[in-house]
Amino acid sequence: MKKADPGRIEKHLKELNAFNSTPECGTTRVVFTDVELKGREYVKGIMRGTGLAVKEDSIGNVFATLPGSDPSLAPVWTGSHIDTVLCGGMFDGMAGVFGGIEALRLIRESGIKHKRDISAVVYTSEEPTRFQVSCLGSRAMAGDLTLEDTKGISDKDGNTLYDVLCRLGYDMGRFGEIKRGPGSVYAAVELHVEQNRRLEDDGRKIGIVKAICAPTNFDVIVTGVQSHAGGTSMEARRDAYMAACELALILEKLARENTESEYTTATVGRVKVSPGSVNAIPGRCEFSVDIRDVDFESKRKLTERFLSECAAVELRRGVSVSHVMHNQDIPLRCSEEISGIIEKYVKTAGLPYEKMISGPYHDSMFVGRFAPVGMIFVPSRNGISHSPEEWTDFAEIAAGTDVLAETLAELANR
Ligand code: GLV
Ligand code: MN
Ligand code: MN
Repeated sequence: MKKADPGRIEKHLKELNAFNSTPECGTTRVVFTDVELKGREYVKGIMRGTGLAVKEDSIGNVFATLPGSDPSLAPVWTGSHIDTVLCGGMFDGMAGVFGGIEALRLIRESGIKHKRDISAVVYTSEEPTRFQVSCLGSRAMAGDLTLEDTKGISDKDGNTLYDVLCRLGYDMGRFGEIKRGPGSVYAAVELHVEQNRRLEDDGRKIGIVKAICAPTNFDVIVTGVQSHAGGTSMEARRDAYMAACELALILEKLARENTESEYTTATVGRVKVSPGSVNAIPGRCEFSVDIRDVDFESKRKLTERFLSECAAVELRRGVSVSHVMHNQDIPLRCSEEISGIIEKYVKTAGLPYEKMISGPYHDSMFVGRFAPVGMIFVPSRNGISHSPEEWTDFAEIAAGTDVLAETLAELANR
């Protein structure tokens, strides 16, 4: 097999990074905004330039396919996403998109025969940045986001996903075709940056993912009484923000002290305090909760414990606490067979590697509902991601791409 070209991967990543709505703070490319639509066109251009046939489904998942010799066989997929968090980096998702396209180029240019089609996929909106719900494209493939659901989720301006898709000309009459059943995809392998510092700390170049943690996401709404900061004594006030702070600290403690699972995290990432005046006690505070776990049952119990703490804080502080659940996703065990193939090629390449759990989620978590999946991680400098500081050396992405190409070629001949 020919070797991946780090220079080409660098060029593509940097060119895509020009489609960015916050050049002053890292990369922001939110699904179906002007920069993201231009980014999509850029990626489709690269796919076509690589000799791949490009297709898109009704939620904007893009497929670029290298045909195999037997079209009756289920295809092999690779791929990731091009949307980002606010002020994120240029590698999360994009490394796997261009690594995937490069892998298909290597297979084709090396003249490797394969029976199954191999597709490089760009999944729509892995990040929940715009619609609060993550993995829109792969979630719909797994049947966990229906046409009806698209009418019930909206962005901060009140645009529903359904309306946005219609406005962009996607054919909602074909929404049913997005869903994939078991057996429709033979195997899927995603290349991604690690977003943690284990590989770097351990001096390894490749991570083989054993399992992907899944999030539970909900918003908590605390309603207290808005009143004068000076005129309301400490005893009399019903401060929505302080109640939210107490809940955030309880959440942190629950996650830190959870002994029921190998990996648990909990994050309050967005807080909105109203009215937001220096001299008024907040009457309302809304905050987001993100609980991750590699074990669904442990996550379910932790969520339950937190919600019962909400009821306790309600009583203690005389506020009311409600929540709006967005998703309670299921963690995924990667396919041991695919991981074994990845490991074989990592060993052949002489790359130091380790097996690991992914704290971040990925589209593979949903693809894994209908196909066996594997994931290849490459190091994140200082373990940083979802930040302008996110970095992975292009040579490291190329090394992961070489392993990906070998793995895809083998799977496509099974
Ligand atoms: C995806 O980016 C995640 O939040 O894990
Ligand atoms: Mn991400
Ligand atoms: Mn990602």
